[in-house]
Amino acid sequence: MLTSSQLLEKINGYIADLAYSHEPRGLYAPIEYVLSLGGKRIRPVLMLMAYNLYKEDVDGILSSAASIEMYHNYTLLHDDLMDCADMRRGKPTVHKMWGGNAAILSGDTMLVLAYQLLSSCDISYLKNVLDIFNRTALEIGEGQQYDMEFEKRDDVSEEEYIEMIRLKTSVLLAASLKIGAILAGASVGEAQKLYDFGIQIGLAFQLQDDYLDVYGDVAVFGKNIGGDILCNKKTYMLINAFRLADMNQRKELESWIACRECDPQEKIKAVTLLYDAIGIKELCNKKIEDYFQKGMACLDRLGIPDTRKVVLRSFVESLMHRSV
Ligand code: IPE
Ligand code: IPE
Ligand code: MG
Ligand code: MG
Ligand code: MG
Repeated sequence: MLTSSQLLEKINGYIADLAYSHEPRGLYAPIEYVLSLGGKRIRPVLMLMAYNLYKEDVDGILSSAASIEMYHNYTLLHDDLMDCADMRRGKPTVHKMWGGNAAILSGDTMLVLAYQLLSSCDISYLKNVLDIFNRTALEIGEGQQYDMEFEKRDDVSEEEYIEMIRLKTSVLLAASLKIGAILAGASVGEAQKLYDFGIQIGLAFQLQDDYLDVYGDVAVFGKNIGGDILCNKKTYMLINAFRLADMNQRKELESWIACRECDPQEKIKAVTLLYDAIGIKELCNKKIEDYFQKGMACLDRLGIPDTRKVVLRSFVESLMHRSV
């Protein structure tokens, strides 16, 4: 059984060896670029960890793990275009460097590359794995669509928000874990428990991402702070700020949401101050902790000795204290 840093080293090595040096460079250079910026590689590491719960040698599934990371990076190219985000992983985004068309076409190409990497998994599991992958990919599109539609609405409920982040973020973490378990020959029940774990952890993870979008440090987080506020993203924080605001605070929030021509930095500052005054920071941290605990409870139910769960538990524990 490998440690998280050993698994990270393996997946990073495998991805670094994928050569996308063909022509035209305009298509492949953005792919090399985004992959070279790394990121946390959470999804492939989760897949390898899930596999490692049941089987030792992870080398045979590195292409599947790389496939999930390739797919994730594809979603980021499109997501940054949709969110008008200029910075990711501390560097300019692909659409900033090469334009919107590059983000679309290099992104599409990465989706195909993800399938290419996945297709070399153990043939006896291929149908099952593809079914999970396809369902997940459709759900992510649905989540991303809700995310965009919610920007234009002012009556999004907390339940709708949670369902949206389940779709856009949780299902990919969950599918990574489930696929890892399946490729290791684990039972349907075990794979499902890991999926359920991934859903809860994924909800905590996206809530945290939204939190860091307001309270993070740009130099560490690697993305511009306040992007969600500028897009009027209906986050857990904004929804609850409206719910808990007094009359004056609600009026102020409403006017910032409605403003079209206001100074971006002023808007970010004002909304953040309202969050602070309303107690949103504490509320959000509490919610993150709740989902984290629910996730951990799913791990308790796995039918393997507790000693085998240590690596996965401590990896997720460290994720919950992230600032990147
Ligand atoms: C960013 O994912 C998109 C979300 C679902 C929040 P990560 O935070 O895993 O990004 P990288 O891959 O580590 O850069
Ligand atoms: C991203 O959510 C979810 C997907 C990419 C599918 P965000 O839009 O919050 O992710 P970041 O903050 O840009 O990484
Ligand atoms: Mg985004
Ligand atoms: Mg987005
Ligand atoms: Mg975000």
